[in-house]
Amino acid sequence: MKALLLAGGLGTRLRPLTENLPKPMALVGNKPWLEHLIVHLKQQGIGDFVLAVKHYADVIKKRLGDGSSLGVRIEYAIEEDLLGTAGAIKNAEDLLSDRFLVVNSDIIHEISIIPLLEFHRNHNGLVTIGLTEVEDPSQYGVVELDMSGRILRFVEKPNKHEAPSRFINAGIYVMEKEALQWIPKHKEVSIERETFPLLIEKNIGVYGKTINGYWMDMGTKNRYRQLHWDLLDGKFTLPLKEKEQGKGIWLGRNTEIGPGVLLVPPVLIGDEVHIGERSVIGPYAVIGDHCELGRHVRCSETIMWDKCKVHDSTQLNNCIFGYGLEVGSRHILHEAVMNRAVGVIQG
Ligand code: GTP
Repeated sequence: MKALLLAGGLGTRLRPLTENLPKPMALVGNKPWLEHLIVHLKQQGIGDFVLAVKHYADVIKKRLGDGSSLGVRIEYAIEEDLLGTAGAIKNAEDLLSDRFLVVNSDIIHEISIIPLLEFHRNHNGLVTIGLTEVEDPSQYGVVELDMSGRILRFVEKPNKHEAPSRFINAGIYVMEKEALQWIPKHKEVSIERETFPLLIEKNIGVYGKTINGYWMDMGTKNRYRQLHWDLLDGKFTLPLKEKEQGKGIWLGRNTEIGPGVLLVPPVLIGDEVHIGERSVIGPYAVIGDHCELGRHVRCSETIMWDKCKVHDSTQLNNCIFGYGLEVGSRHILHEAVMNRAVGVIQG
């Protein structure tokens, strides 16, 4: 069975980080999420992938190629125009197996897909939607199910009292190729807003199955930050290349910590990083490979991707920096989200 990974969206809510990068390539724990996702699915027996790509498709192709570096096979379905989540699946039709898995590649999860596949095999419908339970359903599309798990309807953004359940679409589906006959070719179509409601109306069997385990949509800056704090707090795990050196302190290879530096856990610091004397890093800091932090830097609740440079005495709190950002000395930055393509702050 093949897995189709949807990875072509513009990621507008995560700009400027996604200004020149597909959202699924955003680093999570110092590695592109898409790589973590492929490895996670490979561990569950999936070796064939189709990547539906559009926005900065070359970034993905250059990094993952034919998949051999990860021990899997990858094919690409490239869109000339954005086709939406269902249009992208239709565009990949010729590359798909009769039954296939679809995954939104911006969802961070550690889900076991076996129960989802078993459930799918046991009903006669064409689609199984993985469902996750949320505390407050008012920001999502909630499903109403019957006793057999058949989805009766979606209720968009219900208020707390009117919600028929707290289960929402988790962005992971098992589908039969037959279902694709209901998606028009070469047209922008949303699977959540158009295709699933249509399939429910046609009564072809759309079922929902709850999934267990960590689940987070990384689509907004707040959620992107939160999932990192969850990672550092051990709410979910990833195969990190950095080694835990003390409780809540992960360090990469050849990283130099200057004299008098205070690492306040939890912190994750990548390979070949240099931190100048008397800096205070953490709590909640994720520092990418090859970053250079000067002396007396303070950095808390901040994520920076590889090759960033922060000069002496700068204070960072609640920031997210894309690759290679440079910040001069003596700046005080709070909640800054920046990408080198957009701006370098000079001291
Ligand atoms: P925003 O612009 O911030 O809403 O993000 P998005 O449109 O990139 O992502 P959204 O959460 O709407 O989509 C869920 C997943 O589907 C993400 O992994 C996207 O990359 C992917 N996706 C969304 N639209 C398309 C599309 O038109 N084509 C392809 N191939 N993938 C898409």
